[in-house]
Amino acid sequence: MKREEIVIPAEAIARQRDFQEKIKALFSARQAHPLACVETFGCQQNVADGQRIMGMLAACGFTFTEEAREADLVLLNTCAIREHAEQRVFGNLGILTHSKRENPEQIIVLCGCMAQEPRVAERVKQSYRLVDLVFGPQALWKFPELLWQVCETRKRVFSIDDEHGGIAEGLPVVRERGVKAWVSIMYGCNNFCSYCIVPYVRGRERSRDPAAVLAEVRELVEAGYRDITLLGQNVNSYGNDLDAGYHFPDLLRDIDQIPGDYWIRFMSSHPKDATPQLFDTMADCAHVAKQLHLPFQSGNNRVLGEMNRRYTREKYLELIHYARSRMPGLVLTSDVIIGFPGETRAEAMDTVSLVEEVGFDALFTFLYSPRPGTKAAAMPDPTPREEKQRWFDQLLEVQNAHSAAIHAGYVGKTLRVLADGESGDEAYPLSSRTEGNRLVRLKGDKSLIGQFLHVKITGSNTWALYGEPV
Ligand code: SAH
Ligand code: SF4
Ligand code: F3S
Repeated sequence: MKREEIVIPAEAIARQRDFQEKIKALFSARQAHPLACVETFGCQQNVADGQRIMGMLAACGFTFTEEAREADLVLLNTCAIREHAEQRVFGNLGILTHSKRENPEQIIVLCGCMAQEPRVAERVKQSYRLVDLVFGPQALWKFPELLWQVCETRKRVFSIDDEHGGIAEGLPVVRERGVKAWVSIMYGCNNFCSYCIVPYVRGRERSRDPAAVLAEVRELVEAGYRDITLLGQNVNSYGNDLDAGYHFPDLLRDIDQIPGDYWIRFMSSHPKDATPQLFDTMADCAHVAKQLHLPFQSGNNRVLGEMNRRYTREKYLELIHYARSRMPGLVLTSDVIIGFPGETRAEAMDTVSLVEEVGFDALFTFLYSPRPGTKAAAMPDPTPREEKQRWFDQLLEVQNAHSAAIHAGYVGKTLRVLADGESGDEAYPLSSRTEGNRLVRLKGDKSLIGQFLHVKITGSNTWALYGEPV
């Protein structure tokens, strides 16, 4: 598709502002101060979308509550990545039946990745009549218009056309106060890993203009954000659709020129598109955190082939080797799936051995979950769940022992961290992160939040370090 067809025209976005005003006027005519309860599931990209949704709701005059029962509007921003994520949402809808019974005027909205699945939309249409509005990630920018339709007609609205998806600039946003911020640099995914639903629900890959990304990061740094994460399903293919010879390393280098005291991170990277040039750029750029999330999914080449990942175990190890040679202290994390259809015990053990060989700082481990409509969901899957669970537990044991050992190695050292919030732990009330994104719980006062500090590490476990400012 041509770029003009992908970028949503400024006039179309401006029209949404009219709908925001209309909704605001509608509630103020009723002398009501409308409350919204927004719950987001899933990955950081969905969290970033949720912040745009909240921005649009704020522009419609809403303030926010965590209590669904007292809300005039309840919105579930959903995730479809595994069956469990979907079950949670249906569970929530069940609970909402009660609050809707008490308050029939309440507007219930289902959006996000699940909403884009025809199977889910049909189920909601038939069996969850309490839901007033359903729209997928591609329709996010026209939420005010859809909401207006619901307010005006009190009819149910479904906007789930299978659109390729556009790029909408200038949507309002309500960010979390504090020091961390998310910036989507691209949307969608073209990779069709055979187990994954994302390409079906998020449309084709499309990159934001570098100038728009740069302006947003600059604004965030100036507003005091210190830890900024660039988001995309595969940031390494950023720019491919721009046809301008401008790629992810170029973007990193340009962002790095923005003056200020801050870290830039990014996720996710796909090993098939990660290049030595990326690691050279990371090494060169002072603001780029020396931290890499590089999902490998499986340590076995046959399984990688069936997953349509388009790299091998050897290629992955080569990448890690080069990245570490350029950045000796690099903190490395990954995603892995156990129990892909047809995976044998020996193949799962290749994954365990890769984990042992690489020594990841942390690992996100998932049991394979079939997603209807994906290629893998149609593959024979004879291994019983209990057997897969055993492989999974074995992998966890290896990783947990390794994480605990790495963390123990930090005790006695002094590290630079960014205090980013409260931890909820009485003895160590502050939470902070190292450049490598390791969690450090700290003794100290809330007034330190937002500051870079030097801290002495006094204790550790599998998941965190403990320390005090020096
Ligand atoms: N675009 C990112 C991943 C997004 S989904 C990337 O390619 O790295 C996050 C993780 O969920 C994936 O890395 C994968 O490990 C896991 N995942 C995706 N689909 C899954 C499925 N059907 N079952 C289990 N885990 C899955
Ligand atoms: Fe899913 Fe693969 Fe795309 Fe990641 S790269 S979102 S795992 S299809
Ligand atoms: Fe889930 Fe959609 Fe993210 S499926 S993991 S919320 S892209």
